[in-house]
Amino acid sequence: MTVASAPGKVILFGEHAVVYGQPAIAIPVREVQAQVRIEPGPAEQGTLVVVQDLRRRFLLREAADDDPLARIVRLALRSVRHEGDPDLTLTITSTIPIARGMGSGAAVSTAIVRALAKHFEFWLPSRAVSELVYQTEVLYHGTPSGIDNTVVAFEKPVFFVKGEGWEFFWVDKPFLLAIADTGIESSTKQVVADLRRRYEADVDRYQVLFGHVGEIASRARLAIEQGDHAALGGLMDENQELLQEMGVSCPELDRMVLAAREGGALGAKLSGAGRGGNMIALVTEEAQGRVDMMLRLAGATRVIISRVR
Ligand code: PMV
Repeated sequence: MTVASAPGKVILFGEHAVVYGQPAIAIPVREVQAQVRIEPGPAEQGTLVVVQDLRRRFLLREAADDDPLARIVRLALRSVRHEGDPDLTLTITSTIPIARGMGSGAAVSTAIVRALAKHFEFWLPSRAVSELVYQTEVLYHGTPSGIDNTVVAFEKPVFFVKGEGWEFFWVDKPFLLAIADTGIESSTKQVVADLRRRYEADVDRYQVLFGHVGEIASRARLAIEQGDHAALGGLMDENQELLQEMGVSCPELDRMVLAAREGGALGAKLSGAGRGGNMIALVTEEAQGRVDMMLRLAGATRVIISRVR
């Protein structure tokens, strides 16, 4: 039996603006994971994929070309030089909430590639894993920036610019994030497409907003490199204001952002596509319990405390 896993992620700064070429920062969230187990299957079975959380199972040879799970299994098999339909059963489990901006699709795909590479004893560098996963992100998201597959495959905080690449950077002082779920599913594809329509109707206005977000992401990187958590919190608040102006927040997110700040968070903002999904708050050791409680009172269905290092 072979087992491999991959973490979730959150975007700290720069979601949406990143699609238009501005820098963004994302971090892995190891408190939630996707896991893939590979076991030999009976002769002539072919490859069977079992997705426990979705109560779904399918044979690879019967799956459509544009099925994201089938696509990543086929791509991974080809990359580890295994043509065909080996008699294997892949069982996928995940603690990453689906459609909440936590990179569940990228994590499942990454865990599949890692598990197949391990099973066939083929070494794939993280860059190759990330590139394969990107090809399934296109099926999930339409026009992904590539930030999800990068942060999940490398499992490091990344400063990412679409089309240019990414840099890893130094986290001077570890910090705590409260990640709170609105319980509302959000379609990244739809929110990104809606924003595209608004952008096309008023390019100048949105270019200015995206430019401000990009400056915030660059300043945030410096604040993280210098361990300046007060500055970092302030930048999260500024980024949230711009996301509201872009029209990608929603009342539930706004309520939770306010609740986190009232509970003593240094800053808070939505994370990912918005209109549901998760929000994040920068919390101190002392304030984390109170922020957690305030978030739940404001409607959070789940709060994860993650240490960024
Ligand atoms: O998949 P999510 O919800 O984390 O959102 C992705 C972030 C966007 O910037 C909105 C889209 C993208 O492709 O980067």
